[in-house]
Amino acid sequence: MHDLIRQAAADLTASSHAIVLTGAGISTESGVPDFRGPKGIWTTNKQAEAQAYQRYERFLDDPKAYWEETLGTVGSGSDFYNQMRKVEPNPGHHAIARLEQLGIVKWTITQNVDGLHEKAGTRRVMHYHGSVEKLRCLSCGSRFGVDEYSLDKLPPLCRCGRPLKYDVVHFKEPIPSDIMDAAEEEAMKCDVMLICGTSAVVYPFAALPAMARSRGRSAVKIIEVNAEPTPLTHQGISDYLIQGKTGEILPLVVDEVSKLLSRRDGHG
Ligand code: APR
Repeated sequence: MHDLIRQAAADLTASSHAIVLTGAGISTESGVPDFRGPKGIWTTNKQAEAQAYQRYERFLDDPKAYWEETLGTVGSGSDFYNQMRKVEPNPGHHAIARLEQLGIVKWTITQNVDGLHEKAGTRRVMHYHGSVEKLRCLSCGSRFGVDEYSLDKLPPLCRCGRPLKYDVVHFKEPIPSDIMDAAEEEAMKCDVMLICGTSAVVYPFAALPAMARSRGRSAVKIIEVNAEPTPLTHQGISDYLIQGKTGEILPLVVDEVSKLLSRRDGHG
């Protein structure tokens, strides 16, 4: 494994436009369960998964009921989002923030709604599946901070008059086009794509690596850091997988990058 960590550091240090893609696996060491890992929310609670597939339609049909359920007032939804706002980043998040500070990582594109990348200090983050910190209007596309609304009167209304939903993207809901386009642009521009803690089975996010790969092997290095192989590994879309915990592996990658950078700058 240490050879692969050195390889990843060499690829990142040699890159001119590296990006990072993340999923729920990077937050499990912060106490946020993932979805499809051995202890994942969907793996352990099939009913919760079935309910999650109803959220978007529920909002379209009855925004008031959607909010009552989401806020845990009525129905099965617990105040999941507020619990999510209390967790802290782990060494995996901090490692990505460090790679951004070193000028290596240009963008972090995450499926996670927990806001832990920003809490760790990462600035350039795209929230592909939205954020628990925001509300969004499906009609005019406006986004607002959660704290801008009291949520006493439900549903909260956008200034265009339409009901707002949580910015979190539910199953069957289209990805907001501004985020989708920006993420695809990065997949077509990057020369290193570091993919951390995702099972890579949820689309359209899982199409980003294949999009980058379509540019040819010499155009981009695709590196996975994950507890288990994924379809990207099996289909040869990624160049290599560093198998293990992101919170343990990514800090080691940063150490190697720092050594290479100081050697390059003649300090080593
Ligand atoms: N380090 C590395 N990998 C890990 C760790 C860890 N500490 N913990 C878990 N993993 C791996 C799991 O083995 C699994 O392969 O991370 C992956 C997480 O995959 P999923 O649970 O499917 O999460 P994700 O890929 O982010 O799901 C995508 O699906 O449910 C929807 O909207 C939700 O954004 C989510 C999307």
